Amino acid sequence: MKDLSVIILAAGNSTRLQSKLTKVMHPLCGLPMIDYVLAAARSLRPKNIVLVLGNDRDAVVEHLKGQKGLRFVHQKQRLGTAHAAQVGLNALAKFRGDVFILSGDVPLLKAATLQALKKTRPSSRLALLSAVLPEPFGYGRVIRDGEGRVLAIVEEKNASGEERQINEVNAGIYRADAGFLKKALGRVKKDPVKHEYYLTDIVAMAGLEGDYPQTLSVSDPVEILGANTRAELAYLEKLHRQELVAKLLAEGVGMQDPDAVYVDAGVRVGADSFLGAGVQLLGETRVGKGCRIEAGCILIDVRLEDSVRVKAYSHLESCVVKSGAVVGPFARLRPESLVEAEAHVGNFVELKKTRLGPGSKANHLSYLGDAIIGRGVNIGAGTITCNYDGKKKSPTRIADGVFVGSDTQLVAPVTVGKGAYIGAGTTVTKNVPPGSLAISRTPQVNVARGKKR
Ligand code: UD1
Ligand code: CA
Repeated sequence: MKDLSVIILAAGNSTRLQSKLTKVMHPLCGLPMIDYVLAAARSLRPKNIVLVLGNDRDAVVEHLKGQKGLRFVHQKQRLGTAHAAQVGLNALAKFRGDVFILSGDVPLLKAATLQALKKTRPSSRLALLSAVLPEPFGYGRVIRDGEGRVLAIVEEKNASGEERQINEVNAGIYRADAGFLKKALGRVKKDPVKHEYYLTDIVAMAGLEGDYPQTLSVSDPVEILGANTRAELAYLEKLHRQELVAKLLAEGVGMQDPDAVYVDAGVRVGADSFLGAGVQLLGETRVGKGCRIEAGCILIDVRLEDSVRVKAYSHLESCVVKSGAVVGPFARLRPESLVEAEAHVGNFVELKKTRLGPGSKANHLSYLGDAIIGRGVNIGAGTITCNYDGKKKSPTRIADGVFVGSDTQLVAPVTVGKGAYIGAGTTVTKNVPPGSLAISRTPQVNVARGKKR
């Protein structure tokens, strides 16, 4: 079998996206587009992967540095896809075999399709992917003769009215023999309309020598859609999300409305969990089995163990919630928080870098920051940890079985010992010994209001 190399064309700029961020770093369901294309490339187990990058390449190199088997090459001037392929091929000077050329902005291509392209008449010098699109606008059209042989690809801008009626489009994904590719690229002339070197010109060259290019038509055209504009990017994301959601449904995850569930590619959800409408599971979020996440919740890089309930409109980020805990509605768990098993975090409660021990409860209107809270603790409504003195953050420690009365302020650093009781309205400024009652209140004075004379 022939050796394989891959060239990924990714030097295009984000002009049509109107973005400073280079195109292939734009995320699709939480991952930059380039990650998808690279995964497809790697599925071929190629000898080399060459990434052709443009002047705004730093973000891509930074993102991919450390990954094995990647070579970055720089296309200094954006002179067209044939020029980009040439720059890539220069890095493969000694390579003999088949070169796969992929587009950095075609992210939903499946590994199985590339495998099929690899097997499409392997002896031929050029094979390409095509698809029939109901709305082919913007794509290169596949021109065939009466016997169905591929004669050329004509770009939208160069196409005649008749050619524009053709629905079969070029996916921009090719398999080419390295020797043929080198020769053909050397012959590509600058296009007089777009002033670019078109990679698509190599298609006609193959045919001229009697070895007509092979085509593989993808049955699901979604795979070959490009993300050239914000609208296309959003559309691709929607299609990919539908795939991710369908997979979760198949794995036993219930949903109030699958069209209104937003999941990123890195998310996993256990069977028998249920997702309400408008739920967003983002980043590397992991949800256990039998969890219930109600409407409007946003979870970013969160880990929920089994049987956790997150009530409506809660916002959780980079935190862990253990089995049987209940969070929300309207709760906010900020990074590095840990809600232990069977604990409760209620409405309008914010946790930051705080551990709430097993079975403990903070049910109403509280801010708990930099706190370590033990087992079976009751945090009364309106409790605030005063963890910041304007310069530094300090910890609050609350031992097992403590009862914190409503409207308590804990001025950190401070420690409340095991089983202590804090009276409502107390400002705790000193450590509270275990088992004792702490109370700081101005005695109430009732002043009689005399009758007007
Ligand atoms: C290209 C094809 C078109 C095909 C379509 C499929 C050409 C001339 N046209 O058009 O037939 O239907 O893809 O999506 O090839 N790039 C570089 N350097 C350059 C120019 C482009 O690296 O100088 C990269 C881009 O970053 C992109 C890819 O090549 O990843 C394709 O370029 P793009 O400008 O998006 O081509 P299309 O107009 O989509
Ligand atoms: Ca494109």
